Amino acid sequence: MDSFELTTSSGVTLIRLADEGAEWIARELAVLFGARRPRVLVVTDEHVALHHLEALLVALRTEDFVCARLVIAPGEAQKSFARLREALDTLATGSFARDDVVLAFGGGVVTDLAGFAASVYRRGIEWIAAPTTVLGMVDAAIGGKTGINHEAGKNLIGSFHQPRAVLCATRVLATLPEREVRAGAAEIVKGALLGGGEFWRDIEQAGADATTWSAEILRSFILRGARVKVEIVGRDERESGERALLNLGHTFGHALEQATGYGTVAHGEAVFYGLRAAVWLSRLTGALDPMRADELQAWLARCELPGVATTPDALSDALRADKKTVEGKLRWILLRGPGEPFITAGVPGEAVRDCAEWLCAIAQTGRSARHGPRKRRVLVLHGPNLNLLGEREPEIYGRMSHDDIAHECREAARQHGFEVLIRQTNHEGDYVDLLQWGRRWADGLILNPGAFTHTSVAVRDALAATYLPAIEVHLSEPRQREEFRHVSLISELCRATVSGRGVAGYADAMARLSNFLSETGVGVAR
Ligand SMILES: NC(=O)c1ccc[n+]([C@@H]2O[C@H](COP(=O)([O-])OP(=O)(O)OC[C@H]3O[C@@H](n4cnc5c(N)ncnc54)[C@H](O)[C@@H]3O)[C@@H](O)[C@H]2O)c1
Ligand SMILES: [Zn+2]
Repeated sequence: MDSFELTTSSGVTLIRLADEGAEWIARELAVLFGARRPRVLVVTDEHVALHHLEALLVALRTEDFVCARLVIAPGEAQKSFARLREALDTLATGSFARDDVVLAFGGGVVTDLAGFAASVYRRGIEWIAAPTTVLGMVDAAIGGKTGINHEAGKNLIGSFHQPRAVLCATRVLATLPEREVRAGAAEIVKGALLGGGEFWRDIEQAGADATTWSAEILRSFILRGARVKVEIVGRDERESGERALLNLGHTFGHALEQATGYGTVAHGEAVFYGLRAAVWLSRLTGALDPMRADELQAWLARCELPGVATTPDALSDALRADKKTVEGKLRWILLRGPGEPFITAGVPGEAVRDCAEWLCAIAQTGRSARHGPRKRRVLVLHGPNLNLLGEREPEIYGRMSHDDIAHECREAARQHGFEVLIRQTNHEGDYVDLLQWGRRWADGLILNPGAFTHTSVAVRDALAATYLPAIEVHLSEPRQREEFRHVSLISELCRATVSGRGVAGYADAMARLSNFLSETGVGVAR
């Protein structure tokens, strides 16, 4: 048996993990309460009850505990006012006293609900968490956060109420469906990414799919994951600082859960997707070395996940309702590497939007898309007044709109197997910012900076700092126009300039970029 403690303002929570079945929980309870025998309300769900309730109740009776039980339906929908009411009714009509106890025997749904009921009944009575899922043992049952969901958001109604003990009888995991084992491991992976060091190296070696781990390895990882959580919560119980790190992968994870309707995707599955989004954003914002990020992506992608259909808009709406917002700004947990998490509010909205698009694409196909090599990425950047294409001086610039040109670019990108992002801005600073993102995201650039071509030293310098192969494109031929258009500040930094060919110039630029990237092997999937 492994045993350690979490010390918080409300006292000490004992955390114990043993290679035992449900009866062990009753024996531990007897040790915990010594000569005293409080009444016990066992809260569990139908799945857990089917496999393990009888053994637990028999053992509790053997230890002279008087018990009542509440068996709820399984699933996230049970974290509701109706079920809370039922739990409180059971306590009140059963005349449970201030020194009686609630025993939450189940996954995170049961521990969140039962812990919350214990926190408000008679202004708070003791509770014991006996988690029966991987996710519960490594995460949900530890740290004293309890609560239920509201239509406006997950876990919106809740409290901090530390259990007196967390008792993990790991043999009950034998009946847990594979999908739940896999999903629960997301919180272990999160813990290893936060903790880094040997823990991360061992996990990395074991692989992302927990159903391939032996029971012994699983138990050891649960223990280490639980310790990471205990250390962080021990230093910051109320999430005034460091505890927020535990939300790694949970910003997009929660958004995905909310956007698809709670219960569609398991919490842990959403966290796996959320971890991928966190790695993606860490790469894009320059915090995480691109090569390391690609390795992490490939590693995370090896865990089998169900496909989930949602839209970037639905994800953005869900992000807006996030509890992690401070003064209207979302706080993101990103990584400089395993063991190097940090909290930031400085992720540009544009990057979040792009990440939502990417996440929707990979989530939709689930596992299959995640195995192919990643595509080379091309950023097409358009400068001022190109939004007016089709309306503005059509005799010079043609009749195609910006949307039409974007369509042609996507088509050309598809032919060359590129992933493409097309952006237009009228603002010089935005153009510089976009180049700076592109520096981390893209393998190549196609630039039509409009009038900035002739004037902007800032754009030229930002381009120089990307060290990316770039092709300059102009719809008209600047050298046949006014003299002030004869100078390009970016030409010497570009591999080629394509001008005077109208929209066909973009297909040409894509082809040139494709040749160059193939010759040099730049951006080939790792
Ligand atoms: N309070 C926290 O700090 C915290 C942290 C993380 C997650 N959570 C919450 O935890 C919940 C998710 O928890 P979960 O993943 O454990 O889900 P869950 O409680 O819904 O359990 C998953 C499924 O496994 C079944 N099950 C549980 N134990 C079993 C066993 N031993 N054998 C067979 N079947 C079993 C359940 O009936 C359910 O169908 C979410 O609501 C999430 O918000 C809370
Ligand atoms: Zn979680």
